[in-house]
Amino acid sequence: MPKRTQTCGQLTAEHTEQTVTLNGWVNAYRGHGQGLVFVDLRDRDGITQVVFEQGSTPDGVVEAGGRLRNEDCISVTGSVRMREKSNPKIPTGAIEVVVDSLEVLSKTARLPFVPSDEKNLPDEETRLQHRYLDLRRPQMQEILRLRHRVAKATRDYFDANGFLEVETPMLCRSTPEGARDFLVPSRLQAGMWYALPQSPQLFKQILMIAGCDRYLQIVKCFRDEDPRADRQAEFTQIDLEMAFVDREEVLDVMEGFARTLWKDVLGVELPEFPRMTYREAMDTYGIDRPDTRYDLRLHDISDLAGQTEFGVFTGALEQPKGVVKAIRVPGGADRISRKVADGYAKFVQQFGAGGVPFTKVSGGSFEGGVAKFVEPIKDALFQRLQLSDGDAVLFGADTYNTCTKALGELRQKVAREMDLIPEGEWNFLWVYDFPMFEWDEETERFYALHHPFTAPTPEESERFLAADATDVETVESIVSDGYDMICNGSEIGGGSIRIHRQDVQSKVFSLLGLSEDEAKLKFSFLLDALSYGAPPHGGVAFGLDRIVMHMAGTENIREVIAFPKSMTGVDLMCEAPNVVDQQQLGELHVKSTVT
Ligand code: AMO
Repeated sequence: MPKRTQTCGQLTAEHTEQTVTLNGWVNAYRGHGQGLVFVDLRDRDGITQVVFEQGSTPDGVVEAGGRLRNEDCISVTGSVRMREKSNPKIPTGAIEVVVDSLEVLSKTARLPFVPSDEKNLPDEETRLQHRYLDLRRPQMQEILRLRHRVAKATRDYFDANGFLEVETPMLCRSTPEGARDFLVPSRLQAGMWYALPQSPQLFKQILMIAGCDRYLQIVKCFRDEDPRADRQAEFTQIDLEMAFVDREEVLDVMEGFARTLWKDVLGVELPEFPRMTYREAMDTYGIDRPDTRYDLRLHDISDLAGQTEFGVFTGALEQPKGVVKAIRVPGGADRISRKVADGYAKFVQQFGAGGVPFTKVSGGSFEGGVAKFVEPIKDALFQRLQLSDGDAVLFGADTYNTCTKALGELRQKVAREMDLIPEGEWNFLWVYDFPMFEWDEETERFYALHHPFTAPTPEESERFLAADATDVETVESIVSDGYDMICNGSEIGGGSIRIHRQDVQSKVFSLLGLSEDEAKLKFSFLLDALSYGAPPHGGVAFGLDRIVMHMAGTENIREVIAFPKSMTGVDLMCEAPNVVDQQQLGELHVKSTVT
């Protein structure tokens, strides 16, 4: 194969009359008869037009050029000349290469789809099945490049800030991150299993106890969860931990990272990130990862609703923790028809809410829907929601949890459907002061809201140690030193200041319902390590795939992973998972119950 002299994105008018060799794939071909064939040759860098023309190109080569088809892999040598009519759409558009010799490096079989035909791409399944063809598309190549730039800028930033990259094991003991583990049977220890890491959480804490001081790892994590648009079972974290720090220091370094990343990769200067407490996020946006690019806030109107005779409101308020909330939808009067409102009611039912009472504002009054019920509180409502003509008002009346959840989800749906989300805007914020625990009525136990290694805030420390497990209200009110970084309504990172005292860690385990023996059995290595002079420490993990999703402007995580799993967790290209033979299972001391 002749050695290439340039890539397909490099040739310009400067190269005219030079003899060059290009390698690549046939992106398009146009035969014009009479010994004239144009081929767009493509590689990772771009596209160059090459011409086979009788008179300039040897006869046999022109004929061979005429037989080329999309995605044939070829090498051409020829001379560069200016085009008669240049193509300003591509960087090499001023020139073309007149072919002197051609080597077909590899002929392509019948294609399941043509990668260059962006308008006729097949379904995602076919794309994933033939990912090698799909990834040839310039759009996908751009994403691979973007992902590389993110990883590189990450390493550069943390290197400059004194972080060491340390690898942690892939075969480990399961850590309770909240999801199901992927398990790997041990051949050498019959009946024993490794778990693939849901995150390197405990290893990075142990590295702090081991004196590593500042740790970074770009690391694969595994959680056996159902895939979603922004979730894969196998995903990548930018994982970080720092010793001898408090929350402010961690937030400072991590915010600096996000700002540097956006500047380096996208050339975007981000302003300082606002901060919001968990309580404010839930009260005002109904979600712990609020998208504040648009307003649509939840206003508590329980005090006003109590003055009405509307059964839906008064009934909700009679329940323990009952609330009534309202959202002002500017310009919603024209857009929210009876049918649309019915759709909203159906939508919120999946979150346990009964419906969405609504009304409109017209001529300084309420009109339609529940207008007559809210008439008595009109003035106060107008003032609290700052209502004006053309607005619609959506109400939620339920227990606090159900109402905020339902309206928080509805708020996002309304914003999407009414095009209220501004394009091209970056909206970052920190959410902090999360509760440490959540009480679950069904299982009648506490769950850690972040993970069980998250410390209470320094101010809460004494109250936490004194808390009695049977006092649900007090335990639920304890505030943790956890924080999430939110970008455009999605959680791109989360972390906390960790517990570095053995007594505090043991207390968390006991509140989570683990007996002393169970805690020792599961976490003896952590409890041991904490007893040998553990430094105060804290950290964060960012979702690398999610960061790249935002930067690439896609809502589908599979678009930013070279070889993702399908929605049913299958690698469609190499057909994993697959059946293994009985002998293999036998060696692993495993018996399948599937016949
Ligand atoms: P957490 O579970 O919040 O924290 O994960 C950190 C970040 O990883 C991303 N993420 C995911 N991305 C794609 N697919 C998934 N299934 C998935 N799950 C999580 C999110 C999330 O913000 N050990 C702690 C971090 C710490 O405390 O330092 C942890 O793993 O962007």
